[in-house]
Amino acid sequence: MSVISIRKSPFIVGLILSSLVVWALAVPPQESWLSPGGKGDMHENHACDSCHFPADGTARQQVQANLQYWLGFRSSSVDFLTKTITNNDCLDCHRNKLDPHAEHLMMELRFSEVRDLIAPHRCGSCHDHHSGLNLTVPGNFCSHCHADVSLEVEVANPSHVELVEGGRWETCLQCHDFHKNHLQQTPRDLDSAHALDAVQDYFDGVSPAPYGEIRTSYLDERGTPR
Ligand code: HEC
Ligand code: HEC
Ligand code: HEC
Ligand code: HEC
Ligand code: HEC
Repeated sequence: MSVISIRKSPFIVGLILSSLVVWALAVPPQESWLSPGGKGDMHENHACDSCHFPADGTARQQVQANLQYWLGFRSSSVDFLTKTITNNDCLDCHRNKLDPHAEHLMMELRFSEVRDLIAPHRCGSCHDHHSGLNLTVPGNFCSHCHADVSLEVEVANPSHVELVEGGRWETCLQCHDFHKNHLQQTPRDLDSAHALDAVQDYFDGVSPAPYGEIRTSYLDERGTPR
């Protein structure tokens, strides 16, 4: 009994949620009512089907495969009605060749423990389209990988070593933009860097990025520069 109920509940929740997506796709004029994020989504005017695509196979095949999985006759479940969204779906519109934290770099062996902890290789670990927030995690996660940061020629004040020794991880994003996709010159002095409030307001989706103009512009409907 316990085995079945543990597996069953997420499946049913997934079933209801996916049905909602499909219903929304079928009635585009009402799409804004149906988004789980309400009006606060980060992609406010984007059609649902710019990210949600139909799953492979017929609904009947999908139900059968999932039923087999649920009963233990299959090793993996399959997508139901809509496909699971992957990094590539996001990158179709958010290309950024200069990203120092691109997925393939996060896949290095030395980060295997960090991957288990915070999954820095998945867009969805830090961004939730339907939350209305630009960033859904605290900005101090740099500590997992940069505890040994020291510049050959130190240019920041306070120095990186001082910041790390003081555990001041909240300061990193006052100077750095994580994906290096903005045109700013990285500030060198913390006193004249971006205020913590301005950074937080950007994460909360309340104000634009403090790091200046976007370098690689976002694409709209996969291919059309905005
Ligand atoms: C910018 C991309 C994007 C757009 C546009 C978008 N979604 Fe989503 N949505 C996501 C992501 C990412 C998830 C997380 C689940 C996943 O990975 O499949 C999600 C999850 C959901 C879920 C939870 C069920 C599930 O499949 O996991 C529902 C319901 C949903 N979206 C409905 C909508 C509706 C309705 C619209 C149009 C108003 C919409 N979405 C537009 C990206 C998007
Ligand atoms: C169809 C193209 C498209 C897709 C797919 C898409 N985005 Fe976007 N995204 C945009 C555009 C255009 C904007 C600019 C805001 C707006 O007007 O909607 C944006 C805004 C954002 C922002 C806020 C940026 C800021 O500085 O305000 C984040 C974060 C983001 N997208 C992440 C994602 C993630 C994560 C996914 C995958 C689930 C995704 N996007 C999928 C086009 C897309
Ligand atoms: C470990 C956390 C983390 C992950 C994983 C992550 N981001 Fe971000 N993202 C951030 C932070 C922090 C910011 C704010 C600083 C900035 O603008 O670069 C941001 C900003 C953004 C922005 C707005 C600025 C820009 O680059 O245009 C977009 C769009 C975005 N992320 C898309 C993505 C996509 C697509 C992925 C997956 C390929 C992804 N992010 C993965 C942390 C993350
Ligand atoms: C999962 C590990 C990981 C996390 C978490 C992480 N980084 Fe990085 N970071 C890297 C890697 C890998 C590079 C590229 C190569 C290198 O410097 O080792 C890099 C490069 C950088 C660079 C140099 C970029 C350049 O090309 O000039 C800066 C600045 C930086 N990270 C800041 C941050 C900040 C700020 C955070 C937290 C918001 C953060 N990183 C979180 C792994 C990580
Ligand atoms: C006062 C601003 C400031 C703060 C705060 C700051 N940095 Fe930097 N950081 C810089 C500047 C300036 C550089 C030189 C490269 C550049 O211009 O982007 C740099 C370079 C780096 C590099 C590249 C190192 C290399 O060898 O090329 C990493 C990684 C980095 N910082 C991580 C961090 C982390 C992690 C934090 C938080 C503890 C942090 N920084 C806080 C200004 C700052």
